[in-house]
Amino acid sequence: MKGIILAGGSGSRLYPITLGVNKHLLPVYDKPLIYYPLATLMLANIRDILLITRPEDQDLYKTILGNGRQWGIHITYATQDHPRGIAESIIIAEDFVGTSPFALILGDNMFFGHGFRSMLLDAARHETGATIFCNWVIDPERFGVAEFDRQNTLISIEEKPEHPKSNYAITGLYFYDTQAIEFAKNLKPSPRGEIEITDLNRLYLEKKQLKTVNLHRGFAWLDTGTHESLLDASNYVATIEKRQGLKIACLEEIAWRNNWISDEQFLACYHKNKNSSYGAYLHRIYHQGKYAGSLSNIRFA
Ligand code: G1P
Repeated sequence: MKGIILAGGSGSRLYPITLGVNKHLLPVYDKPLIYYPLATLMLANIRDILLITRPEDQDLYKTILGNGRQWGIHITYATQDHPRGIAESIIIAEDFVGTSPFALILGDNMFFGHGFRSMLLDAARHETGATIFCNWVIDPERFGVAEFDRQNTLISIEEKPEHPKSNYAITGLYFYDTQAIEFAKNLKPSPRGEIEITDLNRLYLEKKQLKTVNLHRGFAWLDTGTHESLLDASNYVATIEKRQGLKIACLEEIAWRNNWISDEQFLACYHKNKNSSYGAYLHRIYHQGKYAGSLSNIRFA
């Protein structure tokens, strides 16, 4: 299984803070936003990752994330010149994907909740069809919306409908088999000029090959699209991390507990961050031990 992160776009809804810095590099409390989708893919045991950015941002991402070796993963880079839609990322990723099923995540989507890792591993086990993840929201008209019948069977999906048929938003995390590439290539741009991911998912639905996972009450799917929601996301992460003393989306921790990096590599990461509270956290968990008990929320192999 391979992974794609789409971190394109101008982030104009966050101007002026995104005039000089790409949205996905903004801080969400103690780490850049891009760490969160990266952590999601790593929790799905995906280690081969393509990061799609705007051409002008690529060097900065390379400086920050490198080739991923420090986290026992492999990151390669591609660019999207103009925001022509989420489904275009799949066409861009054609050579990278090859004959492998893959996950696609939007660079601004943050997930946190009980049982997430097993949901991810389950989705990654399906070799055919596609899987989407839905979450109940107050403002479904801002998203792709899923409609279910009384038996909880998915019956329709619509992109940003004026009159949503449910409160179930389709989140920016998708698992696909290789059919997705041909499907994406045949999509026609929507009125907003984009190749819509919802149109791709609808093709899977029509073929009865679309699986949905509902992220239930208590599960956090956080939005970072506006100044307000970016601050809320930071406050959410800070609240959980301070209460538990465990970090959300700590890439070094995931890699180390997964045995993807050695103790020496983990300590090298600590040294790099040793002047910050992030580094202090790495130091603390190292001394508590790799198999310390309080991590049942993230069960490692
Ligand atoms: C995109 C998708 C939408 C999905 C959302 C999740 O919206 O088009 O279906 O619900 O991501 O973040 P956009 O980022 O284009 O507003």
